[in-house]
Amino acid sequence: MDRIKIMGGKSLRGSIQASGSKNAALPILVASLLTEEKCFFDRVPNLQDIRTIIKLLSHLGVKVTSNLQENWAELCAKDVQNFEAPYDLVRTMRASVWVLGPLVARFGQAKVSLPGGCAIGARPINFHLMGLEKLGAQIQLENGYVIASAKKLRGNRIAFEFPSVGATENIMMAAVLAEGESILENCAKEPEVIDLAQALRAMGAHIEGEGTEVIRIQGRPQLKGCRYSIMGDRIEASTFLAAAFATGGCVRVEGLPSFAVESVLAKFEEAGAAVVRGARFVELEAKARPKSTDVTTLPFPGFPTDMQAQFMAVMAVAEGTSLITETIFENRFMHVPELDRLGADITVKGNTAVVRGKESLKGAPLMATDLRASASLILGGLCAQGETIVNRIYHLDRGYEKMEEKLRLLGADIVRLRQEEV
Ligand code: EPZ
Repeated sequence: MDRIKIMGGKSLRGSIQASGSKNAALPILVASLLTEEKCFFDRVPNLQDIRTIIKLLSHLGVKVTSNLQENWAELCAKDVQNFEAPYDLVRTMRASVWVLGPLVARFGQAKVSLPGGCAIGARPINFHLMGLEKLGAQIQLENGYVIASAKKLRGNRIAFEFPSVGATENIMMAAVLAEGESILENCAKEPEVIDLAQALRAMGAHIEGEGTEVIRIQGRPQLKGCRYSIMGDRIEASTFLAAAFATGGCVRVEGLPSFAVESVLAKFEEAGAAVVRGARFVELEAKARPKSTDVTTLPFPGFPTDMQAQFMAVMAVAEGTSLITETIFENRFMHVPELDRLGADITVKGNTAVVRGKESLKGAPLMATDLRASASLILGGLCAQGETIVNRIYHLDRGYEKMEEKLRLLGADIVRLRQEEV
């Protein structure tokens, strides 16, 4: 297994380009199941999770031509004959459950393995299933699989109990091919939901209200092919700004609108950073050591759970004590004991972490446990004195494209040790 070695203590400076968003690209690639025509996507990030979804779509019979080094993929779901997403693929990536909506909407059948829990929480899919049932699908659970069928989905009013990103996206993808109007209430407002709606619109779908609580969809008998460019990754961008802040540097990230990262920028400013919001870039300069700032994760436009671990790494070197409260996932503090190994002083009480900022951290060997936790450990290593080795770096490869390369561009002393070198 690859590891990452960091010699910390360098301030990061410079400018980088945001990669395409993983969490927008995943459902958008899946949306190609909704038409028999070709869909071409660019700015597709070259990531393990993207390779997994392509593997799943190919398994269903989608013809995929792609060059992820060049960040594009063309998908054609003309000859789909297999409607089953098997356990082995779904268990490696929960986003696989998104094939449920499009398969049942277009082909009237789907069999998808239940994803089970993951490192950050139980993560049930009951809202996805409720939504599909409201659209008229029959759902059975058998031997660990969801079996969904419908002659023809029919539009309906669906009120989500919680603004789940995945459920909003799954049901949007089903409703665009349902008969009549669907009104989705209490929807997730995340920028990735907006990006999916725009991609679906490029495919001929009739959708209004994405980015607000209520999304209205007029179902169409069929959709067409499209060309679509995926949005920039707001979590990747925020992670690099956090790295600039924690190391006392100045970094600009190009290629995304600042509204997508507003809640994070506001917290960085509260902690004393100078922030510039451009139409297509964001920039952060650390004017001084960060000041302690409390954060509570919330659905968009609140502070994203996907930045909680990285923000904690910044607070670990801040002046004063901050409280970081996680309200979205029940088990998303696994980076805490690892950051403490660097000399951070963090204790967890229920869903709140108490972070007593330290003037400096000291390098240590660490173990990554999930994607964003890995990023947080890298940030910890970047500000720690001496050598930090982060193990189990495959988590990072699921969601950050060329992270070490980009960090090196900004002046970090970071290398990947390939398995054979360790
Ligand atoms: C998406 O996950 C993202 N994943 C996650 O990113 C992100 O953390 C999360 O949204 C929240 O922003 C992708 O886009 C691939 P949810 P998702 O449904 O859709 C509960 C990352 O690091 N819930 O909004 O699975 C659920 O357990 C990842 O890139 C139900 O109870 O998140 C959680 O507590 C990790 N029943 C809350 O809702 C359901 O049917 C929010 O989950 C669905 C969700």
